[in-house]
Amino acid sequence: MSERLEDIAVAMVANGRGLLAADESTATIKKRFDSIGLESTEDARRDYREMLLRSDEAMRNYISGVILYEETLFQKAADGTPLVDIIKNAGSIPGIKVDTGAKPLPHFPSETITEGLDGLAARLAKYYEAGARFAKWRGVIAVSGALPSFGTIKANAHALARYATLCQEAGIVPIVEPEVLMDGTPGDHSIDRAEEVTEWVLRTVFEELGDLRVKLEGMILKPSMVIDGKKARKAPVEEIAERTIKVLKRTVPAAVPGIAFLSGGQSTEEATAHLSAMNTTHDLPWKLTFSYGRALQQEALNAWNGKPENVAAGQRAFTHRAKMCSLAAKGSWKKDLEQAA
Ligand code: 13P
Repeated sequence: MSERLEDIAVAMVANGRGLLAADESTATIKKRFDSIGLESTEDARRDYREMLLRSDEAMRNYISGVILYEETLFQKAADGTPLVDIIKNAGSIPGIKVDTGAKPLPHFPSETITEGLDGLAARLAKYYEAGARFAKWRGVIAVSGALPSFGTIKANAHALARYATLCQEAGIVPIVEPEVLMDGTPGDHSIDRAEEVTEWVLRTVFEELGDLRVKLEGMILKPSMVIDGKKARKAPVEEIAERTIKVLKRTVPAAVPGIAFLSGGQSTEEATAHLSAMNTTHDLPWKLTFSYGRALQQEALNAWNGKPENVAAGQRAFTHRAKMCSLAAKGSWKKDLEQAA
């Protein structure tokens, strides 16, 4: 496969394929495992992720790349095969989450700045060596009547741009992820407010990327959809799709090859339906696909339930959802296809 940033970025969003976000931090995967009553040991994390990555049909046909947590990038399957090799052998691309998390931003109560720039160049060289060809950094923007503040948007946008230049210098495609939270606190904001904030955030992010000379052809944007807060949810599928496309058209240059959405607390089916509705709009300058964590994994996690005898059921559930998301990335998902699992 080509090592040019532009070619890797195009491959990440090509042919109805999208990204599996399996990069939950140790604290986050513990929460997911708590929901099925499973202790989060290193082996349990390995077994769960190995189950997903060995879903050969899903990996070959629907998943262009996998975002890993550092532990997984260097982890071996139960039979000693590096997990990275399982991804590559299925024709998919390994990637890595490189931020070290959102921390309180001094002087800005209830807002955060994402950290991880110090020493990042050296870490990227190590990740490249281990096979990673793209990376992810998530900036988090909380929404309320008064939030976000411009200081927070600007600080996070600047960090995203600094991260993106370091990635490109290391031969790694940056996924630039400014998440406007739908399920933060209070989480009852309207879709109007979500639209206004998302436009403001994306405009600022692309200004910072431009100022730092990030090569737009060699990056992927990972935004949230324009959606009302989780406690306010009432906008229909078509409205979410239309408003999201409107904001993206206003803010994302056509040079960016692809936009891969996060699911952010939407249900599995909502995230699939919204993506499909957007892809029925035909005059788009970029590919629109998925980079889901929860919306790709939830059904597989429940079907697996931490038990070795359920591996095949977990893989079936994952493959079904990946297939539905792939159809959505082509604009051809339909609700009645959901029954097929
Ligand atoms: P969700 O799809 O669960 O929001 O996760 C995607 C992700 O990578 C968040 O950083």
